[in-house]
Amino acid sequence: MKFFIDTANLNDIQEAYDLGILDGVTTNPSLMAKEGIKGEANIIAHYQAICNIVDDNVSAEVIATDFEGMVKEGEALAALSPKIVVKVPIIKEGIKAIKYFSDKGIRTNCTLVFSAGQAILAAKAGATYVSPFIGRLDDVSQDGTELIEQIVHIFDNYDFETQVLAASVRHTMHLIQCAEIGAHVATCPLKVITGLLKHPLTDSGLKTFLEDYKKSQA
Ligand code: G3P
Repeated sequence: MKFFIDTANLNDIQEAYDLGILDGVTTNPSLMAKEGIKGEANIIAHYQAICNIVDDNVSAEVIATDFEGMVKEGEALAALSPKIVVKVPIIKEGIKAIKYFSDKGIRTNCTLVFSAGQAILAAKAGATYVSPFIGRLDDVSQDGTELIEQIVHIFDNYDFETQVLAASVRHTMHLIQCAEIGAHVATCPLKVITGLLKHPLTDSGLKTFLEDYKKSQA
């Protein structure tokens, strides 16, 4: 399973990259706003800064909701770097835009997916990634990981090349469940990735090993 970090915070991206396990970055307008990135020029510069840190797979979201606007924005974003993946919402115009980008060889991440039907449409249009938001489904009492399982199953049935990118991953169990189910990618904040490290028996075991080493050297 690929690990993407879901943030526009450059320090967090660098920290995850330095671990050596990071495969990409997902951003969205809310995450950019959270970092105080305002105005087109600053947004573009920020995407470039992210591309300078990671090796590939930087999702950059279009703001337009009409086909022509999405194409214009998406082509400009894709021209920034071959690492850019154009993020497009799952709306009617978005499907047209995904098909357009797919035909042009521009990678896409279809976002705001909350149903298997939406995922099928995105895959038919040639999306590189489809992003079901599992935490937000959990928020409204629907099991988000069940949707991931359903979409993985459907894509397997037809050998769709579209990869299932589990998004809105909020905690370590989400991440582990995504891996069990066979999600191709999971995107989450840094604390979820580093949370995988935590175990009290690791901490106490290491403490004892180091103490015993010191004793043996005395
Ligand atoms: O990847 C989508 C993500 O940014 C949404 O996460 O926690 O706002 O539902 P959240």
